[in-house]
Amino acid sequence: MKLTVILLALVLQVFSLENGLMRTPPMGWLAWERYRCNINCEEDPDNCINERLFMDMADRLANDGWRDLGYNYINIDDCWMAPNRDEDGRLMADPKRFPSGIKALADYVHSLGLKLGIYEDMGNKTCMGYPGTTVDDVVLDAETFASWEVDMLKLDGCYSSAIDRAQGYPGMADALNATGRPIAYSCSWPAYDGGLPPLVNYTLLTEICNLWRNYDDIEDSWQSVLSIVDWYTKNQDILQPVAGPGHWNDPDMLLIGNFGLSFEQAKAQMALWTILAAPLFMSTDLRTISPQNVDILQNKLMIKINQDPLGIQGRRVLKTKHEIEVFVRPLSNNTSAIVFFSRRTDMPYRYKTTLGSLNFTDSASYEVQDVYTGNIISGLTPDTRFTVIINPSGVVMWYLYPIPDLAEKQLPEL
Ligand SMILES: *[C@@H]1O[C@H](CO)[C@@H](O)[C@H](O)[C@H]1NC(C)=O
Ligand SMILES: *[C@@H]1O[C@H](CO)[C@@H](O)[C@H](O)[C@H]1NC(C)=O
Ligand SMILES: *[C@@H]1O[C@H](CO)[C@@H](O)[C@H](O)[C@H]1NC(C)=O
Repeated sequence: MKLTVILLALVLQVFSLENGLMRTPPMGWLAWERYRCNINCEEDPDNCINERLFMDMADRLANDGWRDLGYNYINIDDCWMAPNRDEDGRLMADPKRFPSGIKALADYVHSLGLKLGIYEDMGNKTCMGYPGTTVDDVVLDAETFASWEVDMLKLDGCYSSAIDRAQGYPGMADALNATGRPIAYSCSWPAYDGGLPPLVNYTLLTEICNLWRNYDDIEDSWQSVLSIVDWYTKNQDILQPVAGPGHWNDPDMLLIGNFGLSFEQAKAQMALWTILAAPLFMSTDLRTISPQNVDILQNKLMIKINQDPLGIQGRRVLKTKHEIEVFVRPLSNNTSAIVFFSRRTDMPYRYKTTLGSLNFTDSASYEVQDVYTGNIISGLTPDTRFTVIINPSGVVMWYLYPIPDLAEKQLPEL
């Protein structure tokens, strides 16, 4: 068994451009969902895509506890560029909205102990019509990003053909590697090829990308969250095994703090993303976010579960005819996380079950901590019947750990 693991590791090393980054799912802030392509800085100066917005959010990440909990990427999305490349063919930031340039922004972000992410598109244009990177531009653009000391690249796929993508995404991985600067790489490639094999080769993606978007963009609504969760669970036999340290499925940004989710739904998104070992990229106004939403996003036990070093993506283990779904994620040291999720729209539902029927049978007894309330429940055996009360479109989330058997526990202390 051990030998197989070592051999596998050697084989992977030979074929991959392992950059050593993102051994746990990345966390941070990404502009797109909340700020889109708002370039109207005259009328909406506080909410437009300019260097001020990224500096403000970086200040908040550093000063309001986010960075210290792991939210350390501050990521630019589309619409940061000037409409054309410069005379040498290099990408340029929009001179009005980013007068100090991206290098200065990276310096600022680094001075706060954060990392800067940037956006490009493997095609003729970005989705919003700014200069794309074609197969011929890939090396120059990677060098440009490295010269600005950027730490992450999200490479979108608008205005590309399948052939452009098949050349361009691995090409950019090589080009980033060749710069010598560790730059995390987020690939939108699979989302443009339907997200599934045979068109999508997840073996290849795990070798060249640190994370990948494989489904639709998230929108500010519960319906959008549900459609993503549905697609992930429907395809979990394909998606679950390909996630792991250094290479993650990305179901897209967290909506928490915006307009479309109720409090219960916000807690549900956070719990489901955590059980899926998903990247945690917020996309909300950190200058005005409510304490209630901060509590969801800064829940320490939640973050510990999301960042578990084994990096195993969870799965939906059952779905009842009463619209209750149970997700389980195995964690290090024999611990686990469980999410009881209600898709009901009537009233809090009393769901009765046992740990045994959720496949927990290895230990005589378990202790549980409720991730949102902090309550501890002791002495659950696999046969104990218990009830969890799950709010409509809400979750109950448990962190579960086996209790060593009594014989061991009663050893005299030395
Ligand atoms: C480039 O790839 C090699 C081979 O996987 C790896 O050892 C090296 O750390 C990579 N360099 C960067 C900057 O990603
Ligand atoms: C990209 O531009 C080239 C050159 O104009 C064109 O031939 C190609 O069809 C374009 N590709 C896409 C996917 O729009
Ligand atoms: C997928 O990519 C891997 C790694 O590059 C390669 O070995 C394999 O042949 C590819 N699979 C298919 C079906 O193309």
